[in-house]
Amino acid sequence: MIRLTETIHVDRPLASVFDYTSDFSHIQEWDPGVVSSTKIQSGKTGVGSEYELTLKFGFFRPKMKYRIIEYEPFSTVVLKGEGDAFSAMDTIFFRKTATGTQIDYQVDIRFSGFGRSLEGFLSPLMKRIGRKAMLGLKQTLGETKAFTAPKGWFKSGSNLADYLADHTILPGMLMFSQFGCELSKRFWTEPKDTLYGKKVVLTGGTSGIGKAAAFQLAERKAFLTIIARNREKAEQVQQEIIQKTGNPHVDFLIADLSLMTDIRSVAKKLKATQKSIHILINNAGALFNERKQTSEGLEQTFATDFLGVFYLTMLLKDALAESSGSRIINVSSGGMYTQKIDVDDLQNEQGPYNGAKAYARAKRGVVILTQIWAEQFKKGGIAVNSMHPGWVDTPGIETSLPKFHQLVNRILRTPEQGADTIVWLAVSREAGQRTGLFWLDRRPHETMVLPKTGESIHERQALWKKLNGLISKKLW
Ligand SMILES: NC(=O)c1ccc[n+]([C@@H]2O[C@H](COP(=O)([O-])OP(=O)(O)OC[C@H]3O[C@@H](n4cnc5c(N)ncnc54)[C@H](OP(=O)(O)O)[C@@H]3O)[C@@H](O)[C@H]2O)c1
Repeated sequence: MIRLTETIHVDRPLASVFDYTSDFSHIQEWDPGVVSSTKIQSGKTGVGSEYELTLKFGFFRPKMKYRIIEYEPFSTVVLKGEGDAFSAMDTIFFRKTATGTQIDYQVDIRFSGFGRSLEGFLSPLMKRIGRKAMLGLKQTLGETKAFTAPKGWFKSGSNLADYLADHTILPGMLMFSQFGCELSKRFWTEPKDTLYGKKVVLTGGTSGIGKAAAFQLAERKAFLTIIARNREKAEQVQQEIIQKTGNPHVDFLIADLSLMTDIRSVAKKLKATQKSIHILINNAGALFNERKQTSEGLEQTFATDFLGVFYLTMLLKDALAESSGSRIINVSSGGMYTQKIDVDDLQNEQGPYNGAKAYARAKRGVVILTQIWAEQFKKGGIAVNSMHPGWVDTPGIETSLPKFHQLVNRILRTPEQGADTIVWLAVSREAGQRTGLFWLDRRPHETMVLPKTGESIHERQALWKKLNGLISKKLW
């Protein structure tokens, strides 16, 4: 259980403070963690009054129901709240003082299921959010001195963690952990659709999320082609999948997807053997902590995670348009939320190189491409979606982010959980009817959360021009 206690004083008479605070219809006016609140029954506030709240939990908008269970006018009100992931008990005491009213607010929060193991981690965060709500209440009730609104992004001396916590983004990020997957699962129904005979091309199927996706796709009877850079690994995965799933339609092609020459030749081979493709899954990707150039002179993050995805997709789009109901699934990352695309520095040349930043920008680029392609390919009947798998325990994350891996490995998702939305986007009928969206745990999410991470139309156009310019240079 997490207990939050806060005391504030407001220069207002007890009766008005009690009436305002005990009626949760107004809560969104002072609690920044609440988006909206509706009183279910009309009439006087008292025991039995119920409220339906929509909360702001990072990128999620969970619902919560509150009910007044004790109501002692001008003295005490107790509300019990029930949500999907947690329950809360709010006890509020009011006391008249010489200059106004004192409010003693206590909240006991209990997480359910897997969330219980995160309580220690969440506690300081919830306390910060509680303090913020109390400052909001104090301000709303008329005393503005104690509440100094943040002057702007980082200007008030806050760091990224503070910012994320204050904007209730950090608890939302916990949805990237196993916790989010377990919670979301409760609302899933398994798609009954099959992939039998559907030609699926998957990049990076030899490790982590891609390997788990390859197994799940083969289990659903897809005709699967894995694009891999390592022949030995590809052969081994192919054998494992055939043995385990009994699906003989699993083959592979070799290409290093950071090299445009390889991409061109693998696309040529694919088109020579398969007139049409139903599903392209751009999963291969990596975070590089050092800035290096490929043998073609491109910065490797940009080449692997962004330009390679662009080039392969552009080369295969006609083969995809040949099939009806075809789909493109682009694997991005939650890290992209932190960055805006920098059209003038796509290859991370300016300033000191930062691997996580370069990776996040490339993954932001993939989300932008998804939206552009969704519009362009609508006529050809191709649904284009991007997704992020959450925080997943894979060889990739262990190598590129060893400290992060060590810190959170207990709450990381399994590769199977990370692959779930990829496979769902490939197989489910519902997903085939949606395009241009960004998914996590089978639900579409916002693509912009932090200020100044969005691009203008002009920047989009410039990006499109630059990417096309690079692949039409015929240098490879
Ligand atoms: N793990 C996470 O928490 C996480 C979070 C957000 C997004 N993602 C994204 O999920 C995708 C899969 O990542 P993962 O965590 O499963 O990593 P992983 O275990 O390292 O697997 C990456 C796969 O991509 C392949 N690959 C990498 N560079 C390649 C290249 N130049 N040419 C051909 N294949 C290449 C790898 O081949 P080899 O087997 O030969 O190395 C491997 O099959 C990536 O796009 C990643 O950015 C992962």
